[in-house]
Amino acid sequence: MHSDLPLFPVAASSEAREVDLLFLATVLLSLFFASLITALLIGFGIKYRRRPKDKPPAEIHGSMALEITWMVIPLFLALAVFVWGADVYFQLSRPPNDTMTVNVVGKRWMWKLQHPSGRREINELHVPLGTAVRLNMTSEDVIHSFYVPAFRVKADALPGRYTTVWFRATRPGRYHLFCAEYCGTQHSGMIGWVEVMEPEAFQAWLAGGARDASMAASGERLFNDLGCVTCHNPDSGARGPLLDNLYTSTVKLQTGESVTADEAYLREAILYPAAKVTSGYQPVMPTFRGLVNEEGILELIEYLKSRAADQEGMNAPAAPAHAAPEGKKPTP
Ligand code: CUA
Repeated sequence: MHSDLPLFPVAASSEAREVDLLFLATVLLSLFFASLITALLIGFGIKYRRRPKDKPPAEIHGSMALEITWMVIPLFLALAVFVWGADVYFQLSRPPNDTMTVNVVGKRWMWKLQHPSGRREINELHVPLGTAVRLNMTSEDVIHSFYVPAFRVKADALPGRYTTVWFRATRPGRYHLFCAEYCGTQHSGMIGWVEVMEPEAFQAWLAGGARDASMAASGERLFNDLGCVTCHNPDSGARGPLLDNLYTSTVKLQTGESVTADEAYLREAILYPAAKVTSGYQPVMPTFRGLVNEEGILELIEYLKSRAADQEGMNAPAAPAHAAPEGKKPTP
């Protein structure tokens, strides 16, 4: 149907149709009113033009009914578009519970991606058909934006924090990936491909190729090398909290507040340990800013995820960290 029109990019994700329908509806609505107003403007201009010998016409004193009508109808039309748009927006920003996660680091001028199993990619992303994929994104330098027109998906990768976007590919094939935020001289070259594969082919691809250790294993090595293990272990005299089952759990802070231990929290705890100190512990942890890069932090987080009991391998459901409303505990 409309997604096959030449003006629309190919629609290859589960949400693409929704986005296209909304877009089409707003365009048609705007076209309708623009044509109506233009036609009336020209028509009245001709009908009521000044003719020689005409007397000046009688003054018009407005019509309350007319005024109310043309305020209330557009108001409801605008509200309808808003409600519809908000609905689509929430769908796009809330990953379903059965997602697989891929970690993305934007860097001038390339996309570095890593699957939890350890397989790395640059400017390419392989995903299985029909599976919801959540991207956990950050940037090593400036703002980039991950844009796949065929999926109708676009989200900024920001330095210093994690952003999330998700899609479920519905059509095998290769689709353009762009950086959609101007990020310097090679911005236009920061492009790549998303390859949607049949699930079996994807598993084979994931297993083949590299000898990379899984992200969790690399994270464990970092955990030992950086010395995290010296405090975060049962024999440390409780210098640091134990980290088993930490991921997605609720952490009580010194301030009395509670936070969910999502990816953003773990990242902050590594880089700014004094920001949210766990209740019952002293703020003695040193910062690891400058000692571990964004990819290392992602590996540490994957390691902590692997120490959460209800995680089962790479396809384990991930917490919709940035999309879940306040107070709603992500379903494991
Ligand atoms: Cu990265 Cu533009």
